[in-house]
Amino acid sequence: MKRIGILTSGGDSQGMNAAVRAIARSAMNAGLEAYGVKFGYKGLVEGNVFKMDSLNDLDGIINRGGTILRSARFPEFAEEETQLKAIEQLKKLGIDALVVIGGDGSYHGAMKLTKHGFNSIGVPGTIDNDIPGTDFTIGFDTAVGVATDALDRIIDTARSHQRIFVVEVMGRGAGDIALWSGISSGADAIVIPERKFDVKAIADKLTANRKKGKDYGIIVIAEGVMSAQDFKVELDKHGDFDSRAVTLAHVQRGGIPTPKDRVLASRFGDYAIHLLLEGKGGLAIGIRDNQLVAKDIIDTLENHKHQTDVSLADLNDRIRF
Ligand code: F6P
Repeated sequence: MKRIGILTSGGDSQGMNAAVRAIARSAMNAGLEAYGVKFGYKGLVEGNVFKMDSLNDLDGIINRGGTILRSARFPEFAEEETQLKAIEQLKKLGIDALVVIGGDGSYHGAMKLTKHGFNSIGVPGTIDNDIPGTDFTIGFDTAVGVATDALDRIIDTARSHQRIFVVEVMGRGAGDIALWSGISSGADAIVIPERKFDVKAIADKLTANRKKGKDYGIIVIAEGVMSAQDFKVELDKHGDFDSRAVTLAHVQRGGIPTPKDRVLASRFGDYAIHLLLEGKGGLAIGIRDNQLVAKDIIDTLENHKHQTDVSLADLNDRIRF
């Protein structure tokens, strides 16, 4: 093996740059050449690829949010013809293996390339934390920090005005960001897709809280359930609240990655190269109980699902007011 390609795709996440840096530097320090693919799978198909330089491309990026390789949503990559075009480009450039950093869609792309016989490795990079085969994804820790910071600020004004705030966080179909930011900010209720909820029971609890002296409240809702606005409308039917709906949206995807995300990304990136140098491939990288793991990417995607730790919702119920 002489040349590896690196690609970031789908929704960006904080720490992707740290992963790009680790993959490229680990490869270079082992005597390989690293090629960056711009604009995800779209750029790959178009041959938008460049040879990376350790100083000019990688120096000073470990602490930068976003992705220096840029990203793109490219649904066309689901078509076989497009996948084969990508492989043609990779072969033309003499690239022997591709490391893909991204979420669910990006992993499916890497799986398709693997199925066509092109060696690909998936590194989990998404704020959603919803990739099977890993306890944590790159960007999740930072996104939870951003959401928690926003919730802390919202709680200040909620308390001053005796209001109820329904705050919607990202996560696609997963409730992980809602659970972690909800617990961290002392939310009165956390509503996630993985657990049944009862709007009336939540409203009754807030009303009871008010009678006991807590005259404000915060509900954190995962976007996979419904919008904050829709939930607010339902909530208002069951109580006399001065309520507001807030959607945190893409602010959760930006900003400086936390040290935890930078280290996780560095470990994943270096591990991907280690596996390739051992002659392995077609893998999904993850972390389980703080140990790096690598599983067959086809089996991971076709037979496994991310498991949100729903016990965190029960925990919140036991420790809230
Ligand atoms: O997968 C990351 C994510 O931010 C999800 O949480 C969200 O549902 C989606 O991407 C938003 O996508 P876009 O940036 O294309 O609007």
